[in-house]
Amino acid sequence: METPVKILLDRKREGCELPSSDIHDLIAAYTRGEVPDYQMAAFAMAVCCNGMTGAETLALTEAMRDSGDKMDWSDVSRPTADKHSTGGVGDKLSLIIQPLAASCGVAVPSLTGRGLGLTGGTADTLESIPGYNASLTLADFKKVVASCGCSMTVQTAEIAPADKKLYALRDVTGTVPSIPLIVASILSKKLAEGAETLVFDVKCGRGAFMKTREQAVALANALVSGAKGAGRKASALVTSMDEPLGFAVGNALEVKESIDVLKGEGRHPADIIELSVEFAARMVALSKGTALDVARKECHDNLKNGKAYAVFAEMVKLHGGNLAEFERIYAEGGGASSVEVLAPVSGFILDIDAETVARAAFNLGAGRAKTDDAIDMSSGVLLSVVHGDRVEKGQPLAKLFAKDRSALLDVEAKSLAEAFVISEEFPSVRRLIIEEIQ
Ligand code: URA
Repeated sequence: METPVKILLDRKREGCELPSSDIHDLIAAYTRGEVPDYQMAAFAMAVCCNGMTGAETLALTEAMRDSGDKMDWSDVSRPTADKHSTGGVGDKLSLIIQPLAASCGVAVPSLTGRGLGLTGGTADTLESIPGYNASLTLADFKKVVASCGCSMTVQTAEIAPADKKLYALRDVTGTVPSIPLIVASILSKKLAEGAETLVFDVKCGRGAFMKTREQAVALANALVSGAKGAGRKASALVTSMDEPLGFAVGNALEVKESIDVLKGEGRHPADIIELSVEFAARMVALSKGTALDVARKECHDNLKNGKAYAVFAEMVKLHGGNLAEFERIYAEGGGASSVEVLAPVSGFILDIDAETVARAAFNLGAGRAKTDDAIDMSSGVLLSVVHGDRVEKGQPLAKLFAKDRSALLDVEAKSLAEAFVISEEFPSVRRLIIEEIQ
């Protein structure tokens, strides 16, 4: 390195702007194992305290992108797009949005993560389908995208290895909540994945990583300007995560709900359908250069005419998954026991606390506290009601499912009951999209 790390740390501590070349050198040296963790932790803390300029954030993002393989989609005839969500309770939107956008002629290469903590990961959710391989090689990932238009698989070790190393360090040094570090972490992986268009769902509220509107809007702005600075088309929606999305929270439960939406069956969760169409339409409009209204109509049509489901079914098949077997196993709850939560009074559903619902699902085995924890695919919470519904005393509010931890069902049902606020007053309409950043 031209500038010694100690000098970089002094400069960053004093709030100076670092030249891009120094940031690139630092990340390259850290990836090669030439910068010790204590110096990198000091760097992360200095960034946490003093922030980074847009130019520094872009340099950090590009340096982390360049620490591993970069995918090239120039041999795919369609425009490429991906959606990234910062994660929320019941957030199964990727399962619908990615095949929906693909059904409109976009190629959707989607490298995704595993869940850690209260909110689940798309890869885990998909693995509740028997046989689904969410750990494809990058070569097989490319083949699936080329064949059916989309693929969802876990990012491999070749993609942005600097982020893997740095994130593990941030996790134990109190340096996760820093917008430039979060932006570089998310974007470096997405840029290496190679989609030309990136659409971000930045969740905001009790069940989200970003609790306030200010934090969420700041992150969304930084993601969009970072993606554009790196030459991609990008937009973001800041969306509400105070209440769970849809009815289902838990892996197989969420796959079942997604299949129902894609097939036009089941209870039609209005929030899931609205957000799926809004995100997929932005992916289509931005990447194909069509009007948003036209893209929105195509998305609505493809949810109704089965084209989006056909892409999903083909993608699952190409990943080795067996949807018929999934339907057979989970038609009866996948062997899980269940307990209901009943309404203590009559009235309207004023609020359902996303964090309380997520905690119940997590405690029943739907998530993992450590990366090597096992997940009970059948466990979780299936809401019977959504915001604004009228309920009568004694009517079911939710059903909890668990197999291995079925002994916890009663205690979790008691905690889950606290999530619901029932009022005599008709509640205000739930606003899903809080802000758009272009
Ligand atoms: N998700 C990421 O991938 N990185 C962060 O830093 C935070 C959330």
